[in-house]
Amino acid sequence: MTDLAATVMERCEALGRVSEEPELLVRPFASEAMRRTNGLVADWMRAAGMTVLSDEIGNLIGRYEGRDEGDGTLVFGSHLDTVRDAGKYDGPLGVMVALACVERLHQRNERLPFAVEVVGFADEEGLRFGTTFLGSSVFAGTFDPRLLNLEDADGVKLSDAVRSLGGDPDALAKDGRDGSDLLGYCEVHIEQGPVLERLGLPVSVVSAIAGQSRISVGFVGEAGHAGTVPMEGRRDALCAAAEFVLVVEETARSQPGMVATVGYITTHPGAGNVIPAETTLGLDLRHGDDPVRQRSVQSLRERAEGIAAARGEEYRWQVRQESHAVPTDPELTALLARAVEELGYRVEHLPSGAGHDAAQVAEITPIAMLFVRCKGGISHNPAESVKQEDVAVAIEVTSRFLALAAEERR
Ligand code: GLV
Ligand code: MN
Ligand code: MN
Repeated sequence: MTDLAATVMERCEALGRVSEEPELLVRPFASEAMRRTNGLVADWMRAAGMTVLSDEIGNLIGRYEGRDEGDGTLVFGSHLDTVRDAGKYDGPLGVMVALACVERLHQRNERLPFAVEVVGFADEEGLRFGTTFLGSSVFAGTFDPRLLNLEDADGVKLSDAVRSLGGDPDALAKDGRDGSDLLGYCEVHIEQGPVLERLGLPVSVVSAIAGQSRISVGFVGEAGHAGTVPMEGRRDALCAAAEFVLVVEETARSQPGMVATVGYITTHPGAGNVIPAETTLGLDLRHGDDPVRQRSVQSLRERAEGIAAARGEEYRWQVRQESHAVPTDPELTALLARAVEELGYRVEHLPSGAGHDAAQVAEITPIAMLFVRCKGGISHNPAESVKQEDVAVAIEVTSRFLALAAEERR
């Protein structure tokens, strides 16, 4: 038998080399790197006895048939896109662990009383279009066609990016999976936080996924000569943005459980001796309680308006993404917890501050998630690291989960 954990580690390494840039890992939606990644993963899926297809948004779907047609389908998955200067495990680990479990079934020539699908979602991070869950929202039938007009940093529309992959943008809203044959969805993912390391546990189950708002905020002032325009009366858009960034930090710090981040600011025209005329910044705000998040978004909007008005500037507010908090399914999670327990580990239920494709898939089928310990809780960082022995535990737990689900179907 092959050492499946070693294979998973090697595959994550291999995918970590598939990037748009030579010096760092960056794999945006509908990029050449994504195409190459899907090609590699499709080959591994076929080698594990799966049939493979891509849907209209480029989600890669591998299917391992059950004993009989019509027995239902248990879905596993995570995303294959990355952030900029990413680590190797956020997303791909979940796809590779699920694939390893199917590979084990295939090696044993074993069929379950249901089919197993493994999905590599095309876009979860939202790096290219500032909107997350493009892949899983199509899968879950929740894709909003208004997003097709969004443009990336080079002015390419989402609709054209979909066409470049061979997909039909007009078909996305109807390309959702009919949930009637689905038995559930399980996603394995690195924890992206420090709790498991502190507890000395390799894995845990997830209780809920926090809601998030992603908003593009702009300030518009007036360009001018850095050497001649007096400080009084300047309409400096970057100063407005700077004020706003600190308001965001103060808002999140004063609200227990809230995290808020401004991850980028772009400035126009962007020269050292020109007063900035326009800035755009990306606000990401999250909380486990939707009304708390929504109230803070509203108050930040008012603060942005106030900052702009006080400086004689305009402000822009474009909500790129809103997703509500999603609890995991109690029954499916109990089954996953049983698998953890039967392998001799204490069961912890952790909430997730990070977004996951599971949050979208929850619209069509019950979801469960397994977190895997990662070094120092570091993620969205090339230093992301997991131990092979923890990956081995994740494979054993997921295989046991499959076996328990099979027992329940008998
Ligand atoms: C995805 O990684 C997120 O931003 O939560
Ligand atoms: Mn991520
Ligand atoms: Mn992720």
